[in-house]
Amino acid sequence: MTAETDARIARLLHHRKPGLGQGDPIVPPIVPSATFHLPTVQTGSTIYGRNGNPTWDAVEAQLAILEDAEVTSFPSGMAAIAAALFATLKAGDRLVIPSDGYYVTRVLSDGFLKPLGIDVQAIPTAAYATADFTGAAVVYLETPSNPGLDVVDIKAIAARAHAAGAVVIADNTTMTPLLQRPLDLGCDLVVAADTKAPAGHSDVLFGHVAGRDAGHMARVRDWRRMSGAIPGPFEAFLVHRGIETLEVRLERMCRSAALVAERLAAHPSVRGLRYPGLPGDASHWAVGGQMANGGFLIGFELPDATAAEAFLARCPLIEQSTSFGGTHSAGERRARWGDAVSEGFIRLSVGVEPVEVLWPAITAALDR
Ligand SMILES: Cc1ncc(COP(=O)(O)O)c(C=O)c1O
Repeated sequence: MTAETDARIARLLHHRKPGLGQGDPIVPPIVPSATFHLPTVQTGSTIYGRNGNPTWDAVEAQLAILEDAEVTSFPSGMAAIAAALFATLKAGDRLVIPSDGYYVTRVLSDGFLKPLGIDVQAIPTAAYATADFTGAAVVYLETPSNPGLDVVDIKAIAARAHAAGAVVIADNTTMTPLLQRPLDLGCDLVVAADTKAPAGHSDVLFGHVAGRDAGHMARVRDWRRMSGAIPGPFEAFLVHRGIETLEVRLERMCRSAALVAERLAAHPSVRGLRYPGLPGDASHWAVGGQMANGGFLIGFELPDATAAEAFLARCPLIEQSTSFGGTHSAGERRARWGDAVSEGFIRLSVGVEPVEVLWPAITAALDR
């Protein structure tokens, strides 16, 4: 981590201090109130539970420090993505999305945006580098993509999309603002599923939109208030607690992932290994530049669906679940959701287990 990131983490941990009075709790209270004392009409957030909530404010303050931007929180990553898309698109617009990114973004675009008159153009992440964005209103990118781990050059794509007059939205879920900073690289809005590494304990869904343009962020906030896609205060509390340890968890997870990827690369049963941190990976050029490191996600192929399912069932330290970024290592055969990957492709999310216990469990499950 850079000195700038270190300073951000320290600020995040103590963000409540300047506002604390004698006897106030250090930890933000869970405020479950739907209504607030309102003898006169006022502006601000604590008017009604759909406008604002002090526990959301606490987690948004943390995320604003991490993103160096205004932040609006949502009850899931998809709620954040929907907000960013509905806030920036109108009938007749063209939206460019990745054909190999998180599949629900595509399903949402096809199922709900297309019928409203939006031209949805899905292209592979690898094709962004040469795509023509002329006529696009929104260029939406996800890098590294889930699950293929292909990357785009964020700065170059943002510049080209802006030259074409488009708004640029980046899904930064697989990296988090500690490992990759799309807003610094020119994107207009960041969307993220804080369900993953930021909350980190697989016990809550959450999301956020971040941006530095007041106009875009006002639309996003209005969308939340009017659509009613609001987070719960208890969920906000859990995410606030999770974010406090994001950096230490990421450090362990990414270090372990680098080691596991290196060892998987040498394993005779493993094919098609993807880990951006490995020299030779197609995404490696981005590591040390726009990506602070290779992350905690690994993709690899076993010969077929049966071999992949058997491996996942056999390994006692890999949870068979459809998420990533949690404390537990988790793995999944992604073709079961229809992702454009081979039948034996596994997405492995490396957790915080000590790696010299995790690796023997992985290799034993591969070898049996
Ligand atoms: C890259 C990416 N973006 C967004 C989401 C959606 O997040 P949520 O499940 O919190 O709605 C996911 C979920 O897996 C994801 O992987």
